[in-house]
Amino acid sequence: MKIVIETTAIVDYPSDVLVVFAFEGEELAGATREVDQRFDGALKRAIESKEFQGQWLEHWSSLSLGQLSAQRIVVLGLGRRDEFNSSRLRQAMGDIAQWVNKSSGSTVALDLEGMPVEPEPMGEAVVEGLELGAWTFQGYHQKDGDDKIGMKTVIVQLGSDGRAKFERGIGRGQSLASAQNLVRKLGWTPSNYLYPEKLAEIAQKEAEKHGLEVEIFDENRLLELKLGALLGVGQGSTFPPRLVVLRYRGGNTKTLALVGKGITFDSGGISLKPPANMDEMKYDMLGAAAVLGAMCAIAEQKPGLDVIGIMAIAQNMPSGSAYKPGDVVTAFNGKTIEVTNTDAEGRVVLADGVSYAVHLGADYIVEASTLTGAALVVLGHEATAMVATDDALAEIVMRASQDAGERVWQLPIYPEYRDLYKSDIADMKNAPGRDAGTITGGMIIAEFADPVPFVHLDIAGTAWTSKGPLNAKGGATGVMVRTMARLPEYLI
Ligand code: BES
Ligand code: ZN
Ligand code: MN
Repeated sequence: MKIVIETTAIVDYPSDVLVVFAFEGEELAGATREVDQRFDGALKRAIESKEFQGQWLEHWSSLSLGQLSAQRIVVLGLGRRDEFNSSRLRQAMGDIAQWVNKSSGSTVALDLEGMPVEPEPMGEAVVEGLELGAWTFQGYHQKDGDDKIGMKTVIVQLGSDGRAKFERGIGRGQSLASAQNLVRKLGWTPSNYLYPEKLAEIAQKEAEKHGLEVEIFDENRLLELKLGALLGVGQGSTFPPRLVVLRYRGGNTKTLALVGKGITFDSGGISLKPPANMDEMKYDMLGAAAVLGAMCAIAEQKPGLDVIGIMAIAQNMPSGSAYKPGDVVTAFNGKTIEVTNTDAEGRVVLADGVSYAVHLGADYIVEASTLTGAALVVLGHEATAMVATDDALAEIVMRASQDAGERVWQLPIYPEYRDLYKSDIADMKNAPGRDAGTITGGMIIAEFADPVPFVHLDIAGTAWTSKGPLNAKGGATGVMVRTMARLPEYLI
């Protein structure tokens, strides 16, 4: 998608679709007023009759009938100005992208003049919204779907100020959106196409494309290095586990490690999941995929900090060789875990992923995983749950997530919760009861980061959601790519 900046009147640009905006309860202004005048006040009358009120994501559209150079006009409601922000701008753009995808037309003209968002976040939100909203997973239909042209060129009208900043935002947005769409594609991909070896191979290819260093540990190497927890989870599957280590060198004394859960399919193992919706467990690798996406975006943005990306990849299957309830596994750092439920496999693979990050000298560890159904119970699909051992790092992640337009909500760590995962025969057990399930999940992983500042992000609810303005079909969201990719800048 190409973005062209125009400073002259957008209403006279020969586009397929002209998009202008209206805030709820405000007088029409700028290009929107111009459109109304060309239509002899039809928009104003629509507002007076309450046919259109400028409510959030409300549309008013018409063929231009020769009144404008565009074929079609859309007035998009942005809701109330005091509720508007860059996050809403991103969603509004996603909504437009979906609208244009459904109609025909490849050249879209947008009036951004007077949009109440600073130029750089505006550029970023615009391109992210358009790219994310336009994206869908192609699927495996025998016949190709309809061959609509889709959005090719977007002409935006800007005020005269802030153009360089806007363009910087566009550049960043493009790199983040394409990383995020890669992650979404991986999330949608079924596990017979995306097994551990394959995910590692894709990571290697992407890493090389972006100039990242990459190392892949196969099952033999994992055995040599004694990553017994990852091996334990993976041993039930015909498709052996992998650990992928990606490195970006930004030249700083500090190192950030991003660690992700990469379960290409989570059947639950011997503690088998019920059949309903088990197919969704192909997305249990979205933490690792988000780490890959963030690393790619970081490589493009070149911040001055060393960043390591670790993907702990396995398939959790029941079989004659599978790990079993009651087994004790030993992680890379020597700590032992009693497996009381093989379906709590995420924390087990991450025990190795995180202790390996400590071994590589990480000063900060941020880990993302589709870890607990309980995260969905607490926050639904609306926010990622955070558990943190370090207030300063937690605040940085929070700030990055706010700037990225991704919601994160912190849960507390109270020392009493530690009793919940004590084991009689090992350093801890992997599956305490239901109480504080999302918190204990994060705390168990944190045991392997100690003493390095650690933030756990449970994306079980946010990595896969129903339809929305940025998610045409629903499905994988690529959540936390934007937040994690931003972290290095905040840590310098
Ligand atoms: N991958 C699941 C978590 C999950 C469940 C994500 C539903 C999205 C939707 C994870 O491996 C898991 O099975 N967690 C268990 C942990 C429990 C056994 C302690 C869970 O949440 O039930
Ligand atoms: Zn899982
Ligand atoms: Mn599980």
